[in-house]
Amino acid sequence: MRISVIGCGYLGAVHAACMAKLGHDVVGIDVDHGKVARLSEGKAPFYEPELDALLTELEESGRLSFTTGMEAAGGCEVHFICVGTPQKRGENAADLRFVDAAVAELAGFLSPGDVVAGKSTVPVGTAERLAEVIAARQPAAALLWNPEFLREGHAVDDTLRPDRFVYGVPDGNEDHPAVAVLDEVYRTALSAGTLRLIMDYPTAELVKTAANSFLATKISFINAMAEVCEATGADVTRLADAIGMDERIGRKFLNAGIGFGGGCLPKDIRAFMARAGELGADQALTFLREVDAINMRRRTRVVELTRELCGGILLGQRIAVLGAAFKPESDDVRDSPALSAAAQLQLQGAVVTVTDPQALDNAAKRFPELPMEPDLETALTRADAVLLLTEWKLYRELDPYSTKSLVSSARVLDGRNVLDPAKWRAAGWTYRGLGRP
Ligand code: UDX
Repeated sequence: MRISVIGCGYLGAVHAACMAKLGHDVVGIDVDHGKVARLSEGKAPFYEPELDALLTELEESGRLSFTTGMEAAGGCEVHFICVGTPQKRGENAADLRFVDAAVAELAGFLSPGDVVAGKSTVPVGTAERLAEVIAARQPAAALLWNPEFLREGHAVDDTLRPDRFVYGVPDGNEDHPAVAVLDEVYRTALSAGTLRLIMDYPTAELVKTAANSFLATKISFINAMAEVCEATGADVTRLADAIGMDERIGRKFLNAGIGFGGGCLPKDIRAFMARAGELGADQALTFLREVDAINMRRRTRVVELTRELCGGILLGQRIAVLGAAFKPESDDVRDSPALSAAAQLQLQGAVVTVTDPQALDNAAKRFPELPMEPDLETALTRADAVLLLTEWKLYRELDPYSTKSLVSSARVLDGRNVLDPAKWRAAGWTYRGLGRP
């Protein structure tokens, strides 16, 4: 099929490459010339395992190209809307400028029978409104809402092998002709048994925000338990193991630590609260405010614990911060809890050095005053305390003995509860985890 993907950020670049991998002819369209130039050279504008190789392979095959011109969508039959919906400046609500602009421009290039599939995360009610914009220009084109659930760091696999497809169709009509078109796009995964659920627009839009809110709630729940564990001397990691064995609860997303960040969970729960307020249903989501507050408290807790580790004074203490990305296998520093804690420590007088295998360029753009050091050993040298804040494999596998020979004082704060406390203590370290005795 001939497919256009509008918006080539995280979601769009991965989606475009994966659709080409499935055998379709794909054009990725983005207003950012720099991004299009990089993608056209087979390079993703962000770090995502597997993606560069996939881009190169598919561009060489002739099935994938990138452009800044929306007219390229004119020759396509399916159009995916993948532009960003960031948080509005100074407000909780989502900024829909990019979605509105993309759909308005695309509408001028649609032909009868075309299918537009919205993938961006939007407030409930958006699809209905966009469908009217499309109908006004091309009444014989259809809009489906087709949210995605990809995780950064696993984006290619999550797109090629999702655990479910969600199609939001007008009035939830399962026989809508656009359903068969989208089925054809996803034929490989559907024939391998991936389930697809058909529903109306608002339900499909809500699936995405509800899923992210649930994940955020799960993380904040265990972080709240970590607070209680800290007050009682209990161990939150053992608690999570034990409650996670109940299938109804599950162990995934029960890792207590410095909390969630990134370009999705924090902004999505805030936009969801804002939208519920507009709809007069704000009471239903007031708990998300608490979820957000628990999450933000973790960052302050890192600062408090570091102060304790350093004997009560941060001023002049050399702190090695391991990790800048909001999670491993990513160079994304949007709302990164690691960087936020590092910046707070610096403000309180600590001499902070941040290291990360992938995210330092992005981190330096966001926090130009924070010293960054690409070499792990150099970052650790003469440190008064080591903070593991993003659980990259190379940090999880650090050897406590050789690391000790580099630092000034053997004190470690395990912000993700991924180190073995017994091993580190045996090597002579003062070990602190979050929610662990
Ligand atoms: C998330 C959703 O998982 C994905 O389905 C959606 O499409 C986009 O948003 P992503 O932002 O890539 O994906 O990250 P995710 O893996 O969900 O992690 C989010 C944050 O939660 C990270 O900062 C991570 O470190 C943190 N986290 C995750 C925890 O603190 N504890 C956990 O147990 C799990």
